[in-house]
Amino acid sequence: MSIKQSIFLFLLTPFVLLVGITDGQTKVAAKVVELKSEYLKNPVGIDVKRPRLSWQIVSSEHALIQTAYQIKVAKSEAALAGKETPVWDSGKVASSESNQVAYSGPEQRSGDRVFWQVKVWLSNGEVVSSSETSYWEMGLLQTSDWMANWIEPEQSADVSKPSPAPMLRRAFNVRGDVVRARAYVTSRGLYEFQLNGNRVSDHLFTPGWTSYNKRLQYQVYDLTDQLKKGDNAVGITLGDGWYRGIGYNNYRYGDRLALLMQIKITYRDGNEETIVTDKDWRSSTGPILMSKIYDGETYDARLERKGWSEPGFADASWTNVRLAEYPKVDLVASMGNPVRAIQEIKPVKVFKTPAGDTVADMGQNMVGWVKLKVKGPAGTNIDIRHAEVLDKDGNVYLANLRGAKQVVRYTLKGGEAETYEPHFTFQGFRYVAIRGYPGELTVDDLTGVVIHSDMQPTSEFETSNPLINQLQHNIIWGQKGNFLDVPTDCPQRDERMGWTGDAQMFAPTAEFNMDVSAFYTKWLRDMAVDQLESGSIPHVIPDILSRPNRPQAGSAAWADAAVVIPWTMYQSYGDKRILEEQYPSMKKWVEYERNRAGDDYVWDGDQHFGDWLAFATNRSDYPGATTGKDLIATAFFAHSTDLLRRTAQLLGKTEDEKAYGELLEKIKAAFLREYVSGSGRIGENTQTAYTLALQFDLLPENMRESAAERLAKDVRSFKHVTTGFVGTPYICNVLSRYGYWDEAFMLLNNEKYPSWLYPVKNGATTIWERWDGQKPDGSFQDPGMNSFNHYAYGAIGEWMYRNMAGIKIDESAPGYKHILIEPHPGGGFRKVSVSHESVYGKVRSAWEITGNAIELSVEVPVNTTATVRLPKAKLAFVELSGKPLSKQNGILDAKEEGSNSVVRVGSGSYKFSYQMD
Ligand code: BGC
Repeated sequence: MSIKQSIFLFLLTPFVLLVGITDGQTKVAAKVVELKSEYLKNPVGIDVKRPRLSWQIVSSEHALIQTAYQIKVAKSEAALAGKETPVWDSGKVASSESNQVAYSGPEQRSGDRVFWQVKVWLSNGEVVSSSETSYWEMGLLQTSDWMANWIEPEQSADVSKPSPAPMLRRAFNVRGDVVRARAYVTSRGLYEFQLNGNRVSDHLFTPGWTSYNKRLQYQVYDLTDQLKKGDNAVGITLGDGWYRGIGYNNYRYGDRLALLMQIKITYRDGNEETIVTDKDWRSSTGPILMSKIYDGETYDARLERKGWSEPGFADASWTNVRLAEYPKVDLVASMGNPVRAIQEIKPVKVFKTPAGDTVADMGQNMVGWVKLKVKGPAGTNIDIRHAEVLDKDGNVYLANLRGAKQVVRYTLKGGEAETYEPHFTFQGFRYVAIRGYPGELTVDDLTGVVIHSDMQPTSEFETSNPLINQLQHNIIWGQKGNFLDVPTDCPQRDERMGWTGDAQMFAPTAEFNMDVSAFYTKWLRDMAVDQLESGSIPHVIPDILSRPNRPQAGSAAWADAAVVIPWTMYQSYGDKRILEEQYPSMKKWVEYERNRAGDDYVWDGDQHFGDWLAFATNRSDYPGATTGKDLIATAFFAHSTDLLRRTAQLLGKTEDEKAYGELLEKIKAAFLREYVSGSGRIGENTQTAYTLALQFDLLPENMRESAAERLAKDVRSFKHVTTGFVGTPYICNVLSRYGYWDEAFMLLNNEKYPSWLYPVKNGATTIWERWDGQKPDGSFQDPGMNSFNHYAYGAIGEWMYRNMAGIKIDESAPGYKHILIEPHPGGGFRKVSVSHESVYGKVRSAWEITGNAIELSVEVPVNTTATVRLPKAKLAFVELSGKPLSKQNGILDAKEEGSNSVVRVGSGSYKFSYQMD
């Protein structure tokens, strides 16, 4: 068949004829899986009245779409299966939506658990029901549901000195068969919860970090199987945590720790009983002599109180607790992902440094703590210091921790082998220096426990370049290390705060790598409540930096997180509700920008962080890449206004859409007037200035090509990035968008400072804060600002996934409902294989080239479609699984576009191969 004939055949073959042709595979029925409510699997204790439900459909069939769904919600699993009238039956809804489907039945009350199931109708005629049982359970929705009192142990209110962690206990009797028991718990400070001698859950750092004086989370635990008939006891240890830590940033919401808890028991006979925090609780202190977020923990195992959280423990010598008057109106359910110990790693070696320290190398810069195994005489003191790097002499380097001590001290109780892990602190480290270990320390005595918010990993990434694979590894570890309940800047020095700018820059990369939907939802709520009256957004959320009359807020590119992150969430998860919820905050921020910019729409004169940590040099003919803060501020003012305009349009806020559209035009005109010459030259000749102008479409169409050419020229002359935090996330994107792929790849592949691969070449296992954290001669950058685990520059991840592999979100069908797959071979890569677990299931794009031949594997989840751009492809030469394109399932249509071919596909796996032109 000639080429012409085959194109002709392809175009003429009606799609209907293709449906149903199998590839000789046996047909397996579709499955409905991954049922989630508010992004969580079977959440217990939520306070969203109309939770959004989602599910995935799995099938090997091609081009499968859901044509209708029916959701049933019932009070019990039995009722769901039986004939009883459900609490809510959506009826058969003709819709392809399987994400963000809001429950619309009667509002559930506090503590209600409901079970749900979904049945789907598919385009191939199959009708399938979910087989998993799923549920959600409401928390305590009214303040009056809280019958417990806040209680406080006896404690020092002097937070300038370390103080022991209070332990609180109460024994109680369970007088019959329990059919249901729930504990509702929160604290001022952190808490660790034991029942009858065991920890109740694997959640760590509860109740999490929120803007405590406005929103305090509580947790709900199902104790039905853990209570026993007769005597029981509950024991809670409190830690200072973020609530009353000390340190240069003074995490400080109050001076005293407090606990609020109630256990509601339902007996088989229908009676109910509630055990609450009240004055009958007893308190003491024990082995934790000090535990602070920055400083570490001091633990004397000789002071352990054996059996303290069990019934029958003699607590006569313990003291009474005090009732305390703290509000309960600010209590909210926990909607984020719990923090857990996610993985354990063993040290790669133990060695002696030139300074004489015994040091274990974990082989990975990690966040969490070390689990210690030791046997020795009682009273032996062991000191564990934590460092991210070794200096050029091979000694542990601690100066970059600034005021954070990160020291864990353990005193042995003696006798049998002892195992110890700290409680209310975490460390950022790769190396641990251990003093006082009895006997010889070996790698078997230590385990690194990696701790972070438990987000589902959603990406796979591999290329033919091991350095780039290591870069991706470092990006992932940057995320692991800095997503500990809030998105932090760094996990080691005396900072560890929710810096808005860093979070904004990294959000699209974070979304690709892990399911961050619940994580950011929680954090954005804190952002909204911490927003200042003026509309300004604090530099860090929760805002622990502002002081009365001294707000620390309002930096362009940082505060714009208020608009950018909700928008990113909408793009990633199709989450419109977050836009609705955050809309007032987004609008207030843009109005603040408008106010500060004034009548000329140029936002000048205010304090901003600017293109933080951009390339600097001592060369006298080039002072460094300083991009004016006013230019950056005006560019972000435009960007946020643009996103707000688009949000208004989506939410049907027509007046706002119009108003912000007009505002956007004014800002663009102002930008042009102020910063751009008549010929399109930007006054501030930096990569960041050009990058922002192009990324945010601030230039008129006729100036864009020449501006891009100027940027590319600058990149070619430097041969490296000169950008800081602000320009770095976008520069490769702008270059490739305007066709300068070689320049983009050159930046990515550059192994010399400043570049992403310079740290990789120097053994980095995480992303560094600075391009040259450690210099080629082994010396370090300024210890005042030199973290080796800062995710911001990891924002290059987004470009790699969306451009090299080409997995793109279609803004008009977000949440990967319609996916653009636009791979781009280049940069010397022989192969690139990337996948992302979207809300609908796995999206994959993997290419391999041999000479001119390319093989591209694509996976598209059920209930989505994709438009695949085959680079340099003539349609007639494209084969699908070794056969001419037209004869396969799942292909919706195909056409040539310039030198590429564009194929629209339905769900399924596809292997395209052809010779590139
Ligand atoms: C943080 C940054 C942050 C910055 C503000 C630093 O101390 O570590 O990542 O964005 O302050 O410029």
